Amino acid sequence: MNKSGAIGLFDSGIGGLTVSKVINTILPEEATIYFGDTAHVPYGQRSADELLGFADKIVSFLAGQGVKYIFFACNTSSALSLSVLSSRYPLPMIGLIKPGVAEVLRLTRNKKVGVIATEATVRSGAYENELKKRDSSIKVYSQAAPRLVPLIEAGELDSPAAVEAVNQYLCPLREAGIDTLVFGCTHYPFLAGLIADVMGPGVQLVDPAGATVRQAAAEMAGLGLLATGGSSPPVHRFFVSGEPQAFREQARRFLGKDVGPVTRAEL
Ligand code: DGL
Repeated sequence: MNKSGAIGLFDSGIGGLTVSKVINTILPEEATIYFGDTAHVPYGQRSADELLGFADKIVSFLAGQGVKYIFFACNTSSALSLSVLSSRYPLPMIGLIKPGVAEVLRLTRNKKVGVIATEATVRSGAYENELKKRDSSIKVYSQAAPRLVPLIEAGELDSPAAVEAVNQYLCPLREAGIDTLVFGCTHYPFLAGLIADVMGPGVQLVDPAGATVRQAAAEMAGLGLLATGGSSPPVHRFFVSGEPQAFREQARRFLGKDVGPVTRAEL
């Protein structure tokens, strides 16, 4: 592990790009290696064992690429696989849930908090347990939103089906009177505009990526792992387990620039 290595990050698909974007903004000198497990997306309905198996292979792949730090840019893997894998590999790692919870607790005033996430994340209780551990008076309203990831992966960000699904999942949370809603899945910031319209101006939307990248930056600084910056710009490489060209196109649309060649890697 040394500071000239890249940061590794992974997700089931394009969701982790919402984290890449924040890494590139807060840590512009850092090279990154992204792994999208697009052969297995969506993760949300899979079992804990299956998810641990995928995450283990991805972490092993990233470690083999010499990364110095790993972001679980996927809440489902953060909830179900991070604690096991962080003791299995000698690499510093971070997930989204603890930093996301800290941000929610900083922002909520009425202590009624909504969590939208995949079925696996909701079932794990990861957000709810962490929120209640840190403040037992918090009321948590969790909503699994299984239709959203397939819509986002298909590029349906404002289709009638997307509008209908967002309304279906979020109206009950709005009715419950939450003042803060956390995006418990890295795909959901793709729908931030639609979600903001449904929730209205009284509800703060929390994307855990910002707090996560800030915490990781502090940890990396403490470990002497921050890139010092060179004359050439950092390189960002992308690997997927599925179709590379489709991912390249989705990434180009979201990031507003071509990410260059995307490489298929078998897990
Ligand atoms: N983006 C992921 C998450 O944050 C996974 C979503 C999925 O594949 O179902 O949970």
